[in-house]
Amino acid sequence: MTFIYWMLYTAGADSPGFSPSNGKDFFSAVEWEHLARMRFALRRNSFVLGRKATKGLLQGCCSELKEIPKNRISIENDASGAPYARVDGKRLPGRLSISHSGVRAFCAYTEDNIGIGVDLEEIQPRSKSFLLDYFTPAEIAEAESQPLERQALWITAAWSAKEAVLKALQTGLRVDTRQVAISFPETDKLAKDTPAWIPFLVNKAPEPAYQWQGWWRVDEQQVLTLVQARMDLLESPPVLKEIPA
Ligand SMILES: CC(C)(COP(=O)(O)OP(=O)(O)OC[C@H]1O[C@@H](n2cnc3c(N)ncnc32)[C@H](O)[C@@H]1OP(=O)(O)O)[C@@H](O)C(=O)NCCC(=O)NCCS
Repeated sequence: MTFIYWMLYTAGADSPGFSPSNGKDFFSAVEWEHLARMRFALRRNSFVLGRKATKGLLQGCCSELKEIPKNRISIENDASGAPYARVDGKRLPGRLSISHSGVRAFCAYTEDNIGIGVDLEEIQPRSKSFLLDYFTPAEIAEAESQPLERQALWITAAWSAKEAVLKALQTGLRVDTRQVAISFPETDKLAKDTPAWIPFLVNKAPEPAYQWQGWWRVDEQQVLTLVQARMDLLESPPVLKEIPA
């Protein structure tokens, strides 16, 4: 059975998520170098936030990492930008995905080597031109069939789901987002707060032709999406296990 571990982390007064100043025991040498190259505070903040969440997640789900100092775990990015972890210089098997928005970071990890992707997105209204640029005609029809008060949520959730799929494929937005088509079969569940994961459909995505599974939920005016690419849908579905922050 596959487990996908996830964490939603919020920087608070007691968690210095926005300052690397006391990070001697927290960052690896590679992370320090990466931080030093970042010129904008906003980028540094999201980098720190993502590392706080991801190291907490890995220590919560991998028993062999639980007790080790955090600076021995290094969260790095490959040439595409896709994240992975090294422990004492050795790459941790499995797949990792990270998203940040405002003061929160959302991340997921699986020991399996098939792609996962996550995204965290603030619910906000978007223009018609945003829809036309980034969504397929079928998606636009589904968005516009929603009651007006649900449209911002629908569009945010679909946008977030596209980003999660493109992260699982490790391309990011280098690919036309209309190559990923999303649909929400349980539109009655499109509500302000969803305490559990709700499945959505990935109707099409760029090659290779994986079978996709996707889930979404709403938490404090933000949408969380999580996707898994699979070779075979006959496998039992993964267990989505939260690691509390
Ligand atoms: C990946 C991408 C979709 C992220 O979206 P976003 O809403 O800006 O940011 P999020 O907070 O949700 O995600 C950022 C995280 O995505 C991950 N990521 C970046 N590129 C990735 C890729 N190719 N595949 C998988 N994950 C990727 C990283 O972990 C990053 O966090 P980190 O740098 O702190 O490690 C977007 O940045 C992108 O497409 N980048 C690559 C292409 C590019 O640079 N295009 C220029 C703009 S069109």
